[in-house]
Amino acid sequence: MTLPEKIGQLSQMNASEGHVADYLAEDLRAGRVGAVLNVGQADVVNELQRIAREESRLGIPLLVGRDVIHGFRTVMPIPLGQAASWNPELARDSTRMAAREAATVGINWTFAPMIDVARDPRWGRIAESLGEDPFLASRLGEAMIRGYQGDDLAAPDTIASCAKHFAGYGAAESGRDYATTSIPEIELRNVYLPPFKAAVDAGVCTFMPSFSELNGIPPTANRYLLRQVLREEWGFEGFVVSDWDSVRQLRIHGLTENDQQSALAAFEAGTDMEMAGGAYVEHLAGLVIAGRIDLQLIDDAVARILRLKFRLGLFDDPRSKHRRLPPLLSEDALEIARMSALQSVVLLKNASGTLPLQAGAVASVAIVGPLADAPHEQMGTWVFDGDAADTITPRQAIERLAGSAVEVRYVGAMENSRSRVNPEFDEAVAVARASDVAIVFLGEESILSGEAHSRADIGLPGDQAELVRRLSETGRPLVGVVMAGRPLTLTGVIDYLDAVMFAWHPGTMGGPAIADLLFGNESPSGKLPVTFPRMVGQVPIYYSQKNTGKPPSPDTIVHIDDIDTHAPQTSLGMTAFHLDAGYRPLFPFGFGLSYAEFHYHDIRASAAEIPLGGAVTISAELTNRGHVAADEVVQCYIRDLVGSVTRPVKELKGFRRIRVEPGETVTVEFELHTDQLAFYGRAMRLETEAGEFDAWIGGDSDTELKTTFGVLGAD
Ligand code: NOJ
Repeated sequence: MTLPEKIGQLSQMNASEGHVADYLAEDLRAGRVGAVLNVGQADVVNELQRIAREESRLGIPLLVGRDVIHGFRTVMPIPLGQAASWNPELARDSTRMAAREAATVGINWTFAPMIDVARDPRWGRIAESLGEDPFLASRLGEAMIRGYQGDDLAAPDTIASCAKHFAGYGAAESGRDYATTSIPEIELRNVYLPPFKAAVDAGVCTFMPSFSELNGIPPTANRYLLRQVLREEWGFEGFVVSDWDSVRQLRIHGLTENDQQSALAAFEAGTDMEMAGGAYVEHLAGLVIAGRIDLQLIDDAVARILRLKFRLGLFDDPRSKHRRLPPLLSEDALEIARMSALQSVVLLKNASGTLPLQAGAVASVAIVGPLADAPHEQMGTWVFDGDAADTITPRQAIERLAGSAVEVRYVGAMENSRSRVNPEFDEAVAVARASDVAIVFLGEESILSGEAHSRADIGLPGDQAELVRRLSETGRPLVGVVMAGRPLTLTGVIDYLDAVMFAWHPGTMGGPAIADLLFGNESPSGKLPVTFPRMVGQVPIYYSQKNTGKPPSPDTIVHIDDIDTHAPQTSLGMTAFHLDAGYRPLFPFGFGLSYAEFHYHDIRASAAEIPLGGAVTISAELTNRGHVAADEVVQCYIRDLVGSVTRPVKELKGFRRIRVEPGETVTVEFELHTDQLAFYGRAMRLETEAGEFDAWIGGDSDTELKTTFGVLGAD
């Protein structure tokens, strides 16, 4: 390979025109392109591959990358919704299906999963995340990677995946996308890096550094991240692709003076391939010739990229990967999308058994609200290849399910989630008043979350709160179904609603899943993968916080309205709370109600003390005291009481989704090896420290069912 041909392999170009543009064909023939992105039509992909194979000197096939993030044509719930299912197997099935569909058009690489720990609901990309917890994100992320990549990358229906965005992108200041992140190394290693380490262990093929800067150095040029941690410590053998034009953005960050310096900084740091931008093609050869980049480093990067092309079987026949595949929107794909939506819905409130609706008892239903019949909006943020025409909305599904037994009346009342009070509000109220129950579909349109779509106010947009208030005045049972790309502050509306389901953006099959849940054909089983604040000012608020030296408790907090005039400073509790919001979230991490009635009891540890290198089993009994069979996501948390650095008040260490029949009691066990208790402490090494531990089992992170055990030191 000539030097320009090698550098061509390090370059990924945009191919979004819908045809093969002349300039792109020219670059392909000249061997200046190793990969393309943003193309989703089989004929265009085929033509690109044909030119690369037949008309370039070396005939090297292309990597064809695309954001296949939550489904392809069959749109799955947004990743945050999938995370709410706490079901790694289902997440794997969903990416398996997405890979299969994407492969039909010749896509062989996706930029997913996004495994950035996300603790700020203002950040629009929380929609694409797997939530706030490193353990949950790790288990789901590795499952998704296995789904995309399968057992054999050369199989016709598998594609390479990409762990992104390395690292800390979710910690953007004030939740503004792309904004600065400042994360102490100890927090980086204990919170933000574990999902990425799990991705390496799961065999992820590629990594993408994040757009933001991390402690002053953008990850695209961050040698510590890309060479020291990723390659030297973790032994990652795949390649690193930049984010879109992020090499040239190093200059805009203020790290370099020009594109040449940016190419040098990014490449030296370990970014193997440049996505868009063109700085590598423009400058790397000159830098090698000038002796500023070692040719060996170029060869290593090229080898990593070629190795993936071989593993994908592209040299055998790049088009072979999209023959003999099942059609899009297959029955299997739709069923996985339905299951995934079903298990992602979180029941947040259900006052006096409002839900499920009893078909016999409910003769008429009013369906209201901007998200009731909005096929595009319920698909969510990343839907290049989804088609709103395939979507089944809740309105459609409820009408189908109700048949002639239940009269269904619909008034959207708002054109979109941001609309203001209008005459249709009166109509909606009239229809609600004339019905046995009203269901109001609230939330955010898909455009309000996702990349570059952050919000400072995370309440219901527009006049939705007013609509809820007006509907509640009818005195009819009022059910709220919220579809959104992030946790919303529901504080202002929750009291007006008798029941609330949080359905995220549930995708193509969201309607049938929600209808089945509303009418009790299935029981809700989703659990929050992220804490819901009462007020945006509480952010960041997450369950695994530190205790502080002055932890708040119900008897130490004071509300702003209750402060006496001229009260002494010390009367205000002197603990870590907000005068106007207390310290509790609206809903804690892991929370989600069921139509069953789950009761946890009899927790125990298999041993009072275990040696380093040993294991303890924490178990508890779970009884379904209700009348329906239902899935429950059982969660196991620990607290390391004393550490060389302070430890969180709770840390998730295990979870399991199990089905429990009415009246049944099951024993749930979690085996914890002392390695699973390790963390980066004062010595910045991953170690388990001896000492006392609390352990809890329960249905959410507030569980108080506790036992204890100890880990004995080496001496
Ligand atoms: C920018 C996003 O940050 C990244 O996640 C995505 O994969 C690329 N654009 C390609 O579309």
